[in-house]
Amino acid sequence: MHASRQDKVRIGVIGLGNMGLSHCRQIHINKKVPGLELGAVCDISEERREWARNHLTDVPAYGNAAEMYKSGLIDAVLIAAPHYDHPPLAVEAFANGLHVLVEKPAGVYTKQVLEMNAAAEKSGKVFAMMYNQRTNPVYQKVRELIHSGDLGGLKRAVWIVTDWYRSQAYHDSGSWRSTWAGEGGGTLINQNPHNLDLFQWILGMPKKLRSFVSYGKYYDIEVEDDVTAYMEFANGASGVYITSTGELPGTNRLEISGDMGKIVVENNTITFYRNRISEREHNRTNTNPFGRVENWKCEVPLGKGGGEGHVGIMKNFTNAILHGEKLLAPGEEGICGLLISNAIHYSSWTDTLVDLERFDHDHFYELLQEKIASSTVKKSMVHQVVDISGTH
Ligand SMILES: NC(=O)c1ccc[n+]([C@@H]2O[C@H](COP(=O)([O-])OP(=O)(O)OC[C@H]3O[C@@H](n4cnc5c(N)ncnc54)[C@H](O)[C@@H]3O)[C@@H](O)[C@H]2O)c1
Repeated sequence: MHASRQDKVRIGVIGLGNMGLSHCRQIHINKKVPGLELGAVCDISEERREWARNHLTDVPAYGNAAEMYKSGLIDAVLIAAPHYDHPPLAVEAFANGLHVLVEKPAGVYTKQVLEMNAAAEKSGKVFAMMYNQRTNPVYQKVRELIHSGDLGGLKRAVWIVTDWYRSQAYHDSGSWRSTWAGEGGGTLINQNPHNLDLFQWILGMPKKLRSFVSYGKYYDIEVEDDVTAYMEFANGASGVYITSTGELPGTNRLEISGDMGKIVVENNTITFYRNRISEREHNRTNTNPFGRVENWKCEVPLGKGGGEGHVGIMKNFTNAILHGEKLLAPGEEGICGLLISNAIHYSSWTDTLVDLERFDHDHFYELLQEKIASSTVKKSMVHQVVDISGTH
C-alpha cells in the first residue's frame, strides 16, 4: 500500500450541486474533516466543472465518474448526484475498489438498492449513508431511551413532520425536482428520507403499512406533497406518520407511547412523561376502577451541541476507513427508510395494506416505470442550483 494511504483518505465528490459543493467546501476549503482530502470532483455539467476549477485549487474535475474512478487519485467516493444515480454510481465504485459514502436517499426504488448492497458486501469496502441527522443528540437520546427499555413495551408512535415547507419556486428550481422521471417521488424521496430513517432507527421496522397520499395537492407537481401512513409493528404497536411540504408553519412532533409513559420530542427537546410503574403491571394488580399510575414529567438532559451533521458523518466514514471505527450510518441500512417510502407509495397506488417483509420489489419497479413513462418533465432538462442554506 502507498505510504500516503495509511494516514489519509482521498475522496472524489460526484455532483457539484447544492449538497456536493457544500461537502467540497467543508473538506477542501474549511478543512473540517481530519484525514480526508479532496482528490477529485466530477459533474456532468461543464459549468459546474468550471466552478470547481476556479474555486477548488489543485483538484481535477472530471465529466464522467468512470474516468475519475480509474484515475488513481481517489480511495473513496461521495455520491451527491440526483437520487436515481446513487446505486449505479456506487456499484461501479465498488467494482473499482473504492469506499463509498452515498447521499440520501439510498436510491429511488428498493430493487436497485438491493443490488447496491450486494455489490458493497462483495467488495468488502467501507460503505456508509449520509444520514447526518443520526448525529443529532436529540434522536440519539430518544433511541437510547427506547432501546434501553426505559419506555417499556412500545404502544404507539406518531410523527408529524410538516415543517418541510417548499413553495412552487423550489419545485421549479431544478428540472429533475418533483418529477417521477427526474426524482422518483416527492417529499417522501426528497425531504423525508432522514425522518423515515430515524423512525426505523429509533423504533424498528414496521411490519405492515397503509397509506393515504395526495399528489400535487398544493403545487403544480406530479408527485406527492401530502402523506398520511398507518403502520403496525411486530409487537402490535401502531404508528402514524404524517408529512407534507404544503403547511406553514408546520409541525415537527414525535410522540412515542410505551408501558412506562410517553416521550414527546418537539423543538429539540425531549420530555419523558414517566410512569412510576408500568401500565401493564398496574393493570395486573390494580383493583380501583379509576386507578391510575403516578406520572412524572422529566425534561431529558442532552448535553451541549447539536451534533456535527454532515461533517460528523464524513469524520466517521474517514475514521472507519483509517482506523476501523464503527459506522454510525452503515450503507446497508439505507434500504430500511427507502422500503418504508416505497411501501407508502405502493399502498397508495394499489389501494392495499402492504406487508413490508414480503414487499414486491419487482412490482413496485414496474409501477414506477409507468409513472416515469407518463412523467411530464424529463431528466435531461436544464439544471439550476438553488440555495439550500437552512435545509436539515
Ligand atoms: N444529506 C442532506 O442533508 C442532503 C441535503 C440536500 C440534498 N441531498 C441529496 O444530495 C443529492 C443531490 O442534491 P442537490 O440538491 O445537491 O442536487 P443539485 O441538482 O443541486 O445537484 C446535482 C448535481 O449533480 C450533477 N449530476 C447529475 N447527474 C450526474 C452524474 N451522473 N454524474 C455526475 N454529476 C451528475 C448535476 O449536474 C448537478 O450539478 C440528492 O440525492 C439529495 O437528496 C442531501
